[in-house]
Amino acid sequence: MDGNGRWAKARGMPRVAGHRAGAKAVRRCIEAAIDQGVEWLTLFAFSSENWRRPEGEVMELTGLLRQYLRSEVADLTKNGVRFRVIGDRERFSPDLRAELEAAESKTAAGTRLNLTLALSYGGRSEIVAAARAMAEAAQSGAIDIRDLDEEGFARFLSTAAMPDPDLLIRTSGERRLSNFLLWQCAYAELVFMDVLWPDFDAAHLAAALAEFSRRERRYGARVT
Ligand code: FPP
Repeated sequence: MDGNGRWAKARGMPRVAGHRAGAKAVRRCIEAAIDQGVEWLTLFAFSSENWRRPEGEVMELTGLLRQYLRSEVADLTKNGVRFRVIGDRERFSPDLRAELEAAESKTAAGTRLNLTLALSYGGRSEIVAAARAMAEAAQSGAIDIRDLDEEGFARFLSTAAMPDPDLLIRTSGERRLSNFLLWQCAYAELVFMDVLWPDFDAAHLAAALAEFSRRERRYGARVT
């Protein structure tokens, strides 16, 4: 969800104002996803690298997250949204972790939209953690390493319960993956949009979905 900082700067406002506007865009995007029939939506809200931002900004971001959970979980539950978190949640304070867990259990019955927030998330460290867990499972005899295939490995990732993304939307004109769902995006269609995240709305989502529907997906196979 890039572009919060630039959105604020363009208005002579502090970065936090951009993040606040970004949180409103999160709400708008979830509503739009439900309206447009999207069943899985994963938002990259905080990367493992984002911890290196100034302490004040990190505090503002975790504060916004806390505020978001307190104000939105009731509506998420009512609207059939199932909330999940991927990423290294151990780095957050115990009380925020407890709020994240509470949001996950309160929304567990949701079936309309699966909303995942990637928090303190990094694709490479997720793959390393999965490899470590897999090695431990092999060592303990729970799996036979010779039987392991891609599907078996994916079961050790934090996204084990989720389908791979079909579409990855990157806002604000950046054209990188930035360590997001590296394994899972192997066949994702990438759509890059110049819109800054706080301005992202239902029309942008519809445009990205329309672009996706025009793509021909071959998964490496040749179509004659
Ligand atoms: C990237 O923009 C955005 C972030 C690092 C934080 C994203 C957070 C939110 C959208 C709000 C809080 C989230 C929730 C779920 C309540 P940037 O700061 O890198 O902006 P720039 O690319 O213009 O510098």
